Amino acid sequence: MPTEEIAQPPPLGAPGLVTRPLASEIGVEILGVDLSRPLDDATFRAIESAWLDNCVLLARGQNLDEDAQVAFAARFGPLGQNVNKHNGGSKRHPATMLISNIRENGQLIGALPDGEMLFHSDQCYVETPCSAGMLYGIEIPSHGGETIFANMYRAWETLPGDLKRAVVGRKAVNIFEYSDAEGYGASAMDLFPAPPPGSKHYAHPIARAHPATGRKALYVNRGMTMCVEGMARAESDALLTRIFDHQEQARFQYAHAWRPGDLLVWDNRSALHARNDFPANERRMLRRVTVLGQRPC
Ligand code: SIN
Repeated sequence: MPTEEIAQPPPLGAPGLVTRPLASEIGVEILGVDLSRPLDDATFRAIESAWLDNCVLLARGQNLDEDAQVAFAARFGPLGQNVNKHNGGSKRHPATMLISNIRENGQLIGALPDGEMLFHSDQCYVETPCSAGMLYGIEIPSHGGETIFANMYRAWETLPGDLKRAVVGRKAVNIFEYSDAEGYGASAMDLFPAPPPGSKHYAHPIARAHPATGRKALYVNRGMTMCVEGMARAESDALLTRIFDHQEQARFQYAHAWRPGDLLVWDNRSALHARNDFPANERRMLRRVTVLGQRPC
């Protein structure tokens, strides 16, 4: 029987929680849970523990309005407040953001509308990036638009020794300067040596310790990491290129093909994500909520 068909026994302390892996190195699906209803503490703790262990958690077939999604997200911690300039005129909860290419009266109703996105970690360009991101599928194109996740614990654990030694104690500068129209299709390394004026940027450790699990995870990415702090350009480019190539190996990944009603939560401290291209003439809409995090160390 293929591995993905085998339901795993409930984790300890989680009576009734049935899970199955999404890929060999990352991701777990929980089955038989209705997230629109309040969860008892034992069930939530089991879900949280499965999520921490696997970096990405999926529940399919959910029926979540905005309030229900926000309520479930709030179980993971205090929520981020989205400054959503694309509100399409609606009065959405301040924690939610639409990710969508849909335009109404010529105006985008959401952010991050079009095309491919390189691997990145949300908000890695600020001092305290979010700890978790949660996406709920509402409208999905006929093909493409998969969100791809990669396990940065495993990327760190398997990093060749010379690369590990080269980055110990070092920080990298992460930057955000992409407009919605341009997407995240360009490598941030191209911006070296200086962040463009007005861009948001912050230097974080290249390998961070996860505050809940204690495990180390690689914390650089091709989409937003511009350079290794205090390193000459050629050396920084060569080092980062090798790290990016290592961390983006298929063996660390799970590509999520969306269906309406999918609820996906990723640990933004231990997983990177990216997006495949999709037809520009088809509608795509996901609702996102983020959970506040701490300064990486
Ligand atoms: C994101 O990076 O938050 C968006 C992912 C997606 O649109 O699939």
